Amino acid sequence: MLKTKLTEMLGIRHPIIQAGMGPFSNNNLCVAAANAGILGLLSTSGIFSKTDQPWVYKAFVETAEASMDDDMATVLEKVLKRTYRLTKDNGGVFGINVMVSAELLDKSKVLIDTAIRVREENPAMKDHFKVIFTSAGDPVPWRDKIKNAGFTWLHVVPSVKGALRCQKAGVDCIVASGHEGGFHIAWEPVHSMVLLPAVVDAIGADLPVVGAGGFCDGKTLAAALALGAAGAQMGTRFLATQESDFHPLWKEQVVKTEDRGTLVARGIVGPARWLKTPSSVQHLQNTIVKSPGVFSGVPDDFTTVPPDLIQYERDGIRAVCTGDREKAMMAGGECAQRVEDLPKVQDLVDNIMTDATRIVQTMPHYLTNVK
Ligand SMILES: Cc1cc2nc3c(=O)[nH]c(=O)nc-3n(C[C@H](O)[C@H](O)[C@H](O)COP(=O)(O)O)c2cc1C
Repeated sequence: MLKTKLTEMLGIRHPIIQAGMGPFSNNNLCVAAANAGILGLLSTSGIFSKTDQPWVYKAFVETAEASMDDDMATVLEKVLKRTYRLTKDNGGVFGINVMVSAELLDKSKVLIDTAIRVREENPAMKDHFKVIFTSAGDPVPWRDKIKNAGFTWLHVVPSVKGALRCQKAGVDCIVASGHEGGFHIAWEPVHSMVLLPAVVDAIGADLPVVGAGGFCDGKTLAAALALGAAGAQMGTRFLATQESDFHPLWKEQVVKTEDRGTLVARGIVGPARWLKTPSSVQHLQNTIVKSPGVFSGVPDDFTTVPPDLIQYERDGIRAVCTGDREKAMMAGGECAQRVEDLPKVQDLVDNIMTDATRIVQTMPHYLTNVK
């Protein structure tokens, strides 16, 4: 068993976070992750899509035991209550991942307000529904709302500057996400090997830091701990599991991905890492022409990006929902090339922990010059 500041802060057994991943729901994945002794995160970005991507909304509500007629807040309330019901007897701990990027602020507020209300109305949930995990925006404006409600607050950043902003906001734990990661990534690339120790050094010993981007097994979890982190968040790895709510096409594509199997092209709220397929290669070509800031680190305003570029992505995700392999666009991290199976979540967690523990314990034996 590896105890860290993360396991102690959240009361979880293992220092692993199952990442929030949209646009499909993570509802069943989150339940399995929480029950396996790690932090399970519910994704919420699919709830945003009722009018502009009803196919995503449909997939989302189906696994939430909700209805197409429900509004965003009602769907989330049903998801939270369901997750609580399915994790409480196993001592599971879970949270919600809410993107707070500028384009989504109205919706983010509805989701965070709903989360706070549902927990207040159901106080027994507090031992299980412990976390609000914000991403893709500035944490500072959310401080009073989240802190006053008593949640443990995690925020994800791609830079030291972002980490210092988290410290100012009073975030409880910082997730430093490197450019290897799946789906949305930063405009300016810094990869986990550099970012994670840089954030640990900048933040000091008080606040736990978790690594994200490229972590997918015992070796990489042990590496995160060696770099000073209190754990690792894993997205792509958990996407490809039996319980994951993602479409089988997407899961299979992660497993099929080989050496140099991802690319960076436009995503809805900025650069995104996609699994390499004919359709994402075409999207890359379109991005070079229509959103070159993705490659030069200069953010372009969402409102000025040609709508057909964004539509291409939406069509690609719709193609996943309809099982259209040729047109499908599927996001995933570089570590997809290291993912070779579709295990059950509990088996995956057990294997990761066995390997990480062995590596941490036996590391000195590999070093012939250690005295
Ligand atoms: C398919 C997919 C969807 C994702 N969706 C979200 C999301 O909705 N919100 C978010 O904050 N991060 C999202 N992420 C990023 C993950 O939360 C996580 O930080 C990332 O997957 C870590 O890198 P890894 O894929 O190498 O494990 C997504 C990642 C993937 C692969």
